[in-house]
Amino acid sequence: MSFSTYFQFFGDNSKLITGFANQHPVIKSFLIGSVSGTSSTLLFQPFELIKTRMQNASASGKRRMMPLIIDVVRKEHVAGLWKGTVPSLVRCVPGVGLYFSTMSWMQTYLLQSQRPNALEAILMGVAARSFAGCLLMPFTVIKTRYESGLFQYTNVTEAVRVIYTTEGMRSLFRGLTPTLLRDAPFSGLYYMFYSQLKRIVEPTGSSQPLIQIPADLQAVSIFACGLSAGLLASLVTHPADVLKTKMQLHPQGFSNIFHVASIITREEGLRVLFAGVVPRMMRRTLMATMAWTFYESLMQNVGLKK
Ligand SMILES: *[C@@H]1O[C@H](CO)[C@@H](O)[C@H](O)[C@H]1NC(C)=O
Ligand SMILES: *[C@@H]1O[C@H](CO)[C@@H](O)[C@H](O)[C@H]1NC(C)=O
Repeated sequence: MSFSTYFQFFGDNSKLITGFANQHPVIKSFLIGSVSGTSSTLLFQPFELIKTRMQNASASGKRRMMPLIIDVVRKEHVAGLWKGTVPSLVRCVPGVGLYFSTMSWMQTYLLQSQRPNALEAILMGVAARSFAGCLLMPFTVIKTRYESGLFQYTNVTEAVRVIYTTEGMRSLFRGLTPTLLRDAPFSGLYYMFYSQLKRIVEPTGSSQPLIQIPADLQAVSIFACGLSAGLLASLVTHPADVLKTKMQLHPQGFSNIFHVASIITREEGLRVLFAGVVPRMMRRTLMATMAWTFYESLMQNVGLKK
């Protein structure tokens, strides 16, 4: 469908879409971030739940994906797969808001509104992500506990109250170090993998690319580079995700990340550091594909690309 037939077809929506296109980039990114964050949370929460269950399952017991899914559906019904959606959503929209307002603050005050270079963009991303991550940590703890099925809280406010009164403030921020170790290097790793992978498919300067890609497949090949970069960066940061879950589910057991890492690898072997990596990668792949499809169709609909 071409640009003009699209607008004829949808009539008044054209105002909405061009209105959206005219917004400030920060507001636009915030809206896209919130909408895609909310919908991907709703759609892909089961992957998060299974990941958390796999990270808690003992090495000797079941840590395979299908048996775990069947077990959850049998005992807790299909809705059981969506446990943890509420704290996930409670975290999502303010998280996106904090992220973008921090980014925009840094852009204005630290860079005097200049365009950041690659390194500055990565550092800004790290700072913004870490700041939002720290402030919203309690919801991350509660989300993991909902998903695990080991704790029974009636609602999120009740969970905050119970954790605060029985375990103290520290428990609401449990797992902060591994969370930052997981999230902070992500953008840097992503950028590194992405730029290396792109050299395979895109010509640089006078040199030819390693693989010749037909022009109409360029966009798809760039998307494939982005996706692979995301998967590789997730793989490298996965052990931190496992440590985070263990610390949040067993507040008494572990004092710091070195302690938790040495205990769980001794008891369950090195493989435990990659527990739940499959559902995490599946979720990331689906999310990236969804975001890309959404973005591509939006670009076409506002006439930036035909
Ligand atoms: C999973 O959680 C339960 C309840 O806290 C605990 O008894 C069990 O040891 C945990 N499994 C592992 C491998 O940590
Ligand atoms: C949360 O649960 C507690 C205890 O069950 C209840 O007193 C409180 O009203 C609930 N809060 C909300 C917002 O539903």
